Amino acid sequence: MISALLLLGLLGSFTAISGKLTWGTTDFFFAFGDSYTTDGFNISAGVDSLVPGDTSSNGPNWVQFLGGTYNITDTKVFNLASGGATIDAALVAPFEPTVLSIVDQVTQFHDILASKPAGAQWSSNNSLFAIWIGINDVGNSFGWTNVTSQSEFHRVLMERLFSQVEILYQDGARSFLFLTVPPTNRAPLIIEQGPEAVSMITAALADYNNQLSASVKSFQETHKDLDQVTVFDTRPIFNTLLDNGQTFGFVNITGFCDAYQNGTPEMTTQIAPCAPVSSYFWLNTLHPLFTIHNILAHAISTTLSA
Ligand SMILES: *[C@@H]1O[C@H](CO)[C@@H](O)[C@H](O)[C@H]1NC(C)=O
Ligand SMILES: *[C@@H]1O[C@H](CO)[C@@H](O)[C@H](O)[C@H]1NC(C)=O
Ligand SMILES: *[C@@H]1O[C@H](CO)[C@@H](O)[C@H](O)[C@H]1NC(C)=O
Ligand SMILES: *[C@@H]1O[C@H](CO)[C@@H](O)[C@H](O)[C@H]1NC(C)=O
Ligand SMILES: *[C@@H]1O[C@H](CO)[C@@H](O)[C@H](O)[C@H]1NC(C)=O
Repeated sequence: MISALLLLGLLGSFTAISGKLTWGTTDFFFAFGDSYTTDGFNISAGVDSLVPGDTSSNGPNWVQFLGGTYNITDTKVFNLASGGATIDAALVAPFEPTVLSIVDQVTQFHDILASKPAGAQWSSNNSLFAIWIGINDVGNSFGWTNVTSQSEFHRVLMERLFSQVEILYQDGARSFLFLTVPPTNRAPLIIEQGPEAVSMITAALADYNNQLSASVKSFQETHKDLDQVTVFDTRPIFNTLLDNGQTFGFVNITGFCDAYQNGTPEMTTQIAPCAPVSSYFWLNTLHPLFTIHNILAHAISTTLSA
């Protein structure tokens, strides 16, 4: 077993699994992130407040698929994500000031959930903390010329991010799921800006994701009692689907249909001359459809079950 893990490490496998918590024993799932993750749940409105289901995917998102379609043990989900979120608004300003950054989301966790109130009586050994952030941090900063280098700035971002992970740890979190930033260099938002923007963000994304996995490694090295710690790489899924768009039934992998960009009444609405909304990869300039979230959640549940 030890040598198998070692071998995986030597092969540079991006997915590192250790410890005991699996998806089947995860009773509480806390999610932090941006528009890819939020479902409109507002913890400030109460631990038991309803999930409005406001997603960016024109259907369920990966958290909802994970807690619904791929639930094994009726996992209780607390989704603290906020659309447009960055790690810290003071480092990378979000598109509007009301957006809750990771710093804000972790503050909410600390203030409301760390005390294990009624309805959220989680334990260190049955709870998974998922963080999917960086899309807007990289997206908003890859063109900055007021930083020494993007890589240097990513170091600042990582320090800030892991100061928040440390707060979760101090509050009792022991199992973590980190998701890499997907290839937003292939999103219409960036493609529309031309090849120079694409090549700049491609380099920035690679560096950010490398630093993320390195930061997770050093977090593990300095916190010896961690349980399940996974870095789930979203890139192979996005790239495989985009590279084989026709095979998987995506009518367009570089663009979207204007008529659908703010969402449609049904998950399969069709407005001529476009194909049904469910046949697209991108709902709008930056957000993939629920079909992609479903595949992501499926793969995550398998990874967490191994
Ligand atoms: C969340 O709920 C609080 C308390 O009810 C409210 O003040 C706040 O505006 C809500 N946030 C959002 C984004 O709706
Ligand atoms: C999770 O699965 C169980 C058993 O299959 C089911 O009873 C429950 O309703 C599911 N929960 C959600 C949130 O889908
Ligand atoms: C998990 O933690 C709870 C609360 O700390 C404890 O009562 C329980 O025995 C632990 N379960 C296992 C399997 O270690
Ligand atoms: C760089 O410039 C952007 C605006 O273009 C600003 O939001 C950001 O705070 C600046 N960053 C640094 C490190 O000065
Ligand atoms: C995909 O969308 C882009 C942008 O709208 C458009 O230029 C392109 O022709 C579309 N491709 C296909 C195969 O429809």
